[in-house]
Amino acid sequence: MCGIVGYTGSREAVEVLIGGLKKLEYRGYDSAGIALQKNGKLIVSKAAGSVADLEKTLEDRFSNTQAGIGHTRWATHGRPTDQNAHPHSSMSGDIVIVHNGIIENHRSLREWLSGEKGYSFRSETDTEVLAHLVEDNYDGDLLEAVRKAVAFVEGSYALVAASSHEPERLVCVRKDSPLIIGIGDNENFIASDIPALLSHTRKTCILEDGEFASVTAEKVDFYNEEGCPLEKEIFEVNWDITAAEKGGYDHFMLKEIMEQPMAVRETLRQRIDVKKRRVDLTELDSLKNELAGLEKIYIVACGTAYHAGLIGKAVIEKLAGIPVEVDVASEFRYRNPIFAANQLAIVISQSGETADTLAALRLARSKGVKVLAITNVVGSTVSREADQVFFTWAGPEIAVASTKAYLTQLVALYLLAIHMGESRGYIKPGLGSELIEGLQNLPGQLKALLSEDNISKIKTYCDHLVTWKNAFFLGRNLDFPVAMEGALKLKEISYIHAEACAAGELKHGPLALIVEGLPVIVLATQKAVLEKVLSNIQEVNARGGAVFAITGEGFEDIDRQVENVFYLPPVNDIIAPILSVVPTQLIAYYTALAGGSSIDKPRNLAKSVTVE
Ligand code: AGP
Repeated sequence: MCGIVGYTGSREAVEVLIGGLKKLEYRGYDSAGIALQKNGKLIVSKAAGSVADLEKTLEDRFSNTQAGIGHTRWATHGRPTDQNAHPHSSMSGDIVIVHNGIIENHRSLREWLSGEKGYSFRSETDTEVLAHLVEDNYDGDLLEAVRKAVAFVEGSYALVAASSHEPERLVCVRKDSPLIIGIGDNENFIASDIPALLSHTRKTCILEDGEFASVTAEKVDFYNEEGCPLEKEIFEVNWDITAAEKGGYDHFMLKEIMEQPMAVRETLRQRIDVKKRRVDLTELDSLKNELAGLEKIYIVACGTAYHAGLIGKAVIEKLAGIPVEVDVASEFRYRNPIFAANQLAIVISQSGETADTLAALRLARSKGVKVLAITNVVGSTVSREADQVFFTWAGPEIAVASTKAYLTQLVALYLLAIHMGESRGYIKPGLGSELIEGLQNLPGQLKALLSEDNISKIKTYCDHLVTWKNAFFLGRNLDFPVAMEGALKLKEISYIHAEACAAGELKHGPLALIVEGLPVIVLATQKAVLEKVLSNIQEVNARGGAVFAITGEGFEDIDRQVENVFYLPPVNDIIAPILSVVPTQLIAYYTALAGGSSIDKPRNLAKSVTVE
């Protein structure tokens, strides 16, 4: 995700800003920029690439300044280029802003500002509207201008603004994106994350949604949405830098698991027409003709993304009635798939750089089949070469074991399936809006699911699991791909061998391995096959297997057969895989933790697999 720093005080501002941006590099970004107050003007420098690349652009005129703002950008709207990097300036250059988040109504604001208001735009970003809005509302008081500007805006933002008319002052505001004020001695700081502040101060104030701060070297004043002054508590940070980078969590993987409610919200943002209760994927308009006449879809991906593809197949076939084949990318190109007109290939890749997935994309395109990419990384090779891209906007994922990226790939596939089902008139009346409501409930349900109580239930089971060298994951129907993903995650980080088995296949062989105490994680969220899964649980129980069941509310019959039951919040069976995978991520994490393995960087594995 993007990073923000701001400084006002008597030190060399450029050094504080560059130092702060470097502390945020671990989060991943693709361009950087700073703006400084100099002799009544704002001077700006921006560069695609790293903070080191930005540093090379900074001539002498960037020194001897005492206030400014800086940003590292993780591209969402618009490619990672110099122009799209932040800070963005207003047309006169008197206002500069940096922004984290997404402005949902940026298209209509851009039209209005460039038409009626006569502002010209220099970037492709959603953010630039904010610079013009602040300028348009500026009447000598930056706080008032920012307050008026954000009233026009829908979406999420952590925003810091500076005006050349008020050289020592920075103004900031947040909604759904973190922003922290660092309190110093005759100097003050702003940052999106604590690591950027730690070498200067441990005294911080955390802005809440809808709160504004006016920051000068001498003082920080806080205000609410109505502009009334607020008293804020100072919070003393006692994390070291490593803990701060992980947001206080022990590992990036756990941090990313906990970020899932927010990640899912970002994937859904702007893709649902709330009034009409319809999925709105205007971003796929260029594929309109292909989508209308589709007779077959290939989904191609690797590892965790392949598991997302398996769920995608089930929901696309169910909701849109289009036959789907799912392939592991490393096999796809060697099996001579039969390409024909009226086909679409969907490639799924978190990193957008996986060599096998890229080869599959190129093969499909070379045969005249259009490719839709589902990826998390703007500017990645997959995103550049695909005919159309569906960005998941999960924010950077640092742990090798994919969690939030996977969940957002699922959300993307559900949105796509509902969209295709609706536009082809295939989906059952009412089901589309029921599922849309279900998707909108997910962020809240995910938050509830990640409660302390639930986690302690999982930890107890993991203390048993870690003493074993093997485990099984069972599921039927939509639960089977979730079982596959759960098994992969456990293998990756705990080094315990785990096998996913379609529960009905147990008696065709794997049952021979079930012995007293063997950990067996059973996914049981699909009503239509619940009785059958209960029989499979009995088969395991009869041989003494230690079952951990993940199930839905209303499936309490399981209680009578299983000691360890994890209940999901009420959810439509079709959407259940988006929730049910989360306890399996936690099982993998806490088992690896109990076993002492290297969680974020498991042995032999890499985050981005760019070789065949
Ligand atoms: C996920 O936990 C794995 N590290 C791995 O299976 C990964 O999903 C796979 O390598 C595909 O990566 P991609 O999504 O970046 O293409």
